[in-house]
Amino acid sequence: RSCHMRITIDRTACSGHARCAAAAPELFRLDDDGYALPLDTEVPAELEQAAHDGETACPERAVTLR
Ligand code: F3S
Repeated sequence: RSCHMRITIDRTACSGHARCAAAAPELFRLDDDGYALPLDTEVPAELEQAAHDGETACPERAVTLR
């Protein structure tokens, strides 16, 4: 049985590029200042590709998957 994927946002690295939310709006939310909000939910299997897209999209490498 595969382990579930979780998304971690490094809020100190995030500088509000919003590319994560553009790449995967199903997963990434931005706060009122445009910074990615921390997520503490498991990524459903059907959204794993979207999670990878969001990770790749962030130029600050603030998005990590584990
Ligand atoms: Fe922040 Fe990167 Fe998204 S800088 S808003 S986590 S694209």
